[in-house]
Amino acid sequence: MRLKDKRAIVTGAAGGIGRATALAFAAEGARVVAVDIKGEAADEVAKDIVRAGGEAVAVAADVSSEADVRRIVETTVATFGGVDVVFNNAGIIRRTTALDIDVDEWDKVFGVNVRSIFLMAKHVVPVMTEAGGGSIINTGSGWGLKGGGQALSYCASKGAVVNMTRALAIDHGAQGIRVNSVNPGDVNTGMLRDEARQLGQDEQAFLAESSDRPLRRMGQPDEIASAVVWLASDESSYVTGAALVVDGGGIA
Ligand SMILES: NC(=O)c1ccc[n+]([C@@H]2O[C@H](COP(=O)([O-])OP(=O)(O)OC[C@H]3O[C@@H](n4cnc5c(N)ncnc54)[C@H](O)[C@@H]3O)[C@@H](O)[C@H]2O)c1
Repeated sequence: MRLKDKRAIVTGAAGGIGRATALAFAAEGARVVAVDIKGEAADEVAKDIVRAGGEAVAVAADVSSEADVRRIVETTVATFGGVDVVFNNAGIIRRTTALDIDVDEWDKVFGVNVRSIFLMAKHVVPVMTEAGGGSIINTGSGWGLKGGGQALSYCASKGAVVNMTRALAIDHGAQGIRVNSVNPGDVNTGMLRDEARQLGQDEQAFLAESSDRPLRRMGQPDEIASAVVWLASDESSYVTGAALVVDGGGIA
């Protein structure tokens, strides 16, 4: 087991990539705190893990709120005695240009996608430092590494995630804390269907377009989870500040 006894927080755990990763972490022996703003759905993920013989609890929380992030870290320490791994994965998208997004929506995207990662670092780094280290993985996106149309706030926020990851890796490497981003291309989750809806496009046509890349298909949540398991595990012990692209060759 590659994550035996590691204590792991997964945010956005009720969604496609988060759920797959929470289950993969547990299958590798981790004790999981499944966090989502959709509390009941996070609870289901924790129950699925327990039913499969693993250890997990759920926390209903908004990752853009400092009080909630503090509570996530405190709950993990109280339940499992510490935090070894954090997967900052909760995210939202708004498919709009600068002309059709208002300031509150812009701030919301940055609150969930960016501020959450700063808040988690603020509260979890002291805990990891005391224990001698840890691994933080942040979900960026292909659109954090290149631009995309009608997604200004999302592209800006994911660019911030990729570079925050590097800055955090520099600041906390001396404490044995590794910080990396995983950058998916189009993955078959609720977010893609939500995008089709926001753009007023036919869902099937939108999903088919998402297969336009060297491997000729979109990704599955499990394929992102595998990369995150590796970044969480000691197998990636010399990897920090990296932007790992998992996108079927889309960026290439
Ligand atoms: N699906 C893709 O094609 C794709 C591509 C690149 C990056 N990503 C990124 O992957 C991550 C996971 O997305 P997904 O595709 O699994 O989508 P998803 O919509 O299935 O999952 C996102 C989860 O985050 C939760 N969430 C949203 N706001 C929250 C908040 N304030 N506090 C706590 N939880 C909150 C949602 O309830 C949901 O369960 C996101 O950061 C997304 O930007 C997805």
